[in-house]
Amino acid sequence: MQKGRETMKKIDLRSDTVTKPTEAMIRAMAEAEVGDDVYREDPTVNRLEEIAAERLGKEAALFVTSGTQGNQVAVLTHCVNGDEVIVEAESHIFYYEGGAMSALAGVQTRTVSGVRGALRGEDVEKAIRSTTNIHFPRTKLICLENTHNRAGGAVVTPEQMKSVYDVAQKHGIPVHLDGARLFNAAVALGVDVQEFSRYTDTVQICLSKGLSAPVGSIIAGDRAFIEEARWWRKKLGGGLRQVGYLAAPGILALTEMTDRLVEDHDRAKQLAEGFRNLSLEVAPVDTNIVLVKTDSIRVPAVEFLRLLSDRGVYAVDFDEYMIRFTTHRHITENDIQYVLEVVESLIAGVSTAQ
Ligand SMILES: Cc1ncc(COP(=O)(O)O)c(C=O)c1O
Repeated sequence: MQKGRETMKKIDLRSDTVTKPTEAMIRAMAEAEVGDDVYREDPTVNRLEEIAAERLGKEAALFVTSGTQGNQVAVLTHCVNGDEVIVEAESHIFYYEGGAMSALAGVQTRTVSGVRGALRGEDVEKAIRSTTNIHFPRTKLICLENTHNRAGGAVVTPEQMKSVYDVAQKHGIPVHLDGARLFNAAVALGVDVQEFSRYTDTVQICLSKGLSAPVGSIIAGDRAFIEEARWWRKKLGGGLRQVGYLAAPGILALTEMTDRLVEDHDRAKQLAEGFRNLSLEVAPVDTNIVLVKTDSIRVPAVEFLRLLSDRGVYAVDFDEYMIRFTTHRHITENDIQYVLEVVESLIAGVSTAQ
C-alpha cells in the first residue's frame, strides 16, 4: 500500500452519480412540505412534476426512483408482452438494465447500431416490422439515448433525433428517449432541452447524475401516458409516501443546476487533451465523459484501474482496453492536473517495466 494512503485524496471519476446534494438541497429537504404522494397529496412532488413537464415541453411528468425505473415504466406503459422494441445496440436500456425489458415487460429487443450513439432514420425504418406478415412481432416502441453513455457522452443532435422521429411518426410508433443526461446535451449545444424532447413521445431524465440531487428521475409525456405510467410505477413498488423530501432537491436540480454542467464539460475536455498529450487514444469529447484506450500501452483496463486506485484515482472499465472517466461537480481543475500527473507516471512506469 502506498504511504499516506489513509489521507490520500480520493478523486472519484467513476460516474456523475457520485455527486452529493448541495447545501441548498439539504436545506430544501429539511424544509420540504410533504404529504402522501400515492394520494397525490405531496405538494413538493406535485410541484417538481409540474416544473419538469413544463421544462421538457410535455403535458405531464412523474417522479420515479431511478433512471432504470423510469425507462422500464416507459417500456411497460408503451408495450405489451411479445412486442418488439428497437434500441440502439449499446444503449443503457439494453446493455445495463439487467435484461429488464424482457424480464418485466416481456418484450423482444431489436438492436440497431448507431453512429456515435445516434440512430439513423433510414436504419430504424429498415428494422420496423411489416404489419402484414403474421410471422413477425409488432414494432411498438423506438428507444433513443441522449447523451449516449457508451458512445462516450456523445450528443445526439436534434436533427439526428428528428430523422428517427419522422420515421416513427410515419409508422405510428412512439419514441422514448433515455435522457439520463439530456441537460448535458442541451448545454453542450447551447440549446433548450425542448429542442431534443420535441422529437420524442416520452422522455426520462435523471436528477441524480450531474444535476446532483440525491435520488430520482422524471418521466414525461402526454397526460394519458403518465396516468398509465403511475399505475405501472405503483405495481413496481415505486409509489412512495412523503417523498417530497426527495423531490425538493430535484426541484433545485432542474432550476439551479443545469447551466453549471458546462464546467463539467470543460474539465472533461481538459482531461482529454491531457491524455492526448500523453499519446493516449481518446474518443471525441462532447460532454462530461472521457473514454480512453489503454491498448497502446498494453495494459488491460482493469489493471490500469487498479494502478490508478492505488493513487486515489477512480474510474470504470468500459471494455477490455477502455476506461471511462466522468467529470462532475466535485472535480476541480487541480484534480484534473493530479490525474494527468498520475497517468503520466503510470505510463512511464509501465514502459520501463515492459
Ligand atoms: C444513459 C443512462 N440511462 C439510464 C441510467 C440509469 O439510471 P439509474 O442509475 O438512476 O437507474 C444511466 C445510469 O448511469 C445512464 O447512464
